[in-house]
Amino acid sequence: MRAENLAEPLKIAGFEIFKDCLTPEEQSTMVADLRAVAQVAPMRHPVTRWGKQMSVKMTSAGRLGWISDKRGYRYEARHPDGMSWPPIPQRILDLWQSKTNLARQPDCCLINFYGEGARMGLHQDNDEGDFSYPVLSVSLGDDGLFRMGGTERGGKTQSVWLSSGDVVVMGGTARLAYHGVDRIRFGSSSLLPDGGRINITLRVVADSN
Ligand code: SIN
Ligand code: MN
Repeated sequence: MRAENLAEPLKIAGFEIFKDCLTPEEQSTMVADLRAVAQVAPMRHPVTRWGKQMSVKMTSAGRLGWISDKRGYRYEARHPDGMSWPPIPQRILDLWQSKTNLARQPDCCLINFYGEGARMGLHQDNDEGDFSYPVLSVSLGDDGLFRMGGTERGGKTQSVWLSSGDVVVMGGTARLAYHGVDRIRFGSSSLLPDGGRINITLRVVADSN
């Protein structure tokens, strides 16, 4: 990891934003690790509880994966096609450890892919049973306009462009804060040959879940 990694993060609304955390080589290796996950547990476009297809494609690694379908949002031990989720790649666990200093490993690495025009509406990450652990997010590929608010729906928000290799820690007051991605700058990065943005979020779900 780069020397700037030791620098103080940018803090916006309690979100800690570490710019340029991963070298281009580390980013490429992470993409290869994530492709290996998606080969075992294919990416799919989930639908919401209301039957609307999400614009992002998703899969997960870890003990639990996050899914959405007409029954709602939840964590499941298996991919909708029936297979167990692959383990979280070791290099991603190492990044979690170095950024959070926690002995507890995440249960879920949710992998989101944003193709051209994909976005994610403002939401809270609140399907976990324990909010005392942070959520750690890594951006790879095209830039994404990340919007951050507070814990109340409809509150004031601020936005920042996240680039490939940026890491965001959502802990403390930001753990239950609203956030989303308004749009991506399709083709702004050459990391993914066909364009698009990958975001991974690492979550501790709960020992009892
Ligand atoms: C998420 O909230 O799950 C994704 C955030 C992002 O894509 O940066
Ligand atoms: Mn989220």
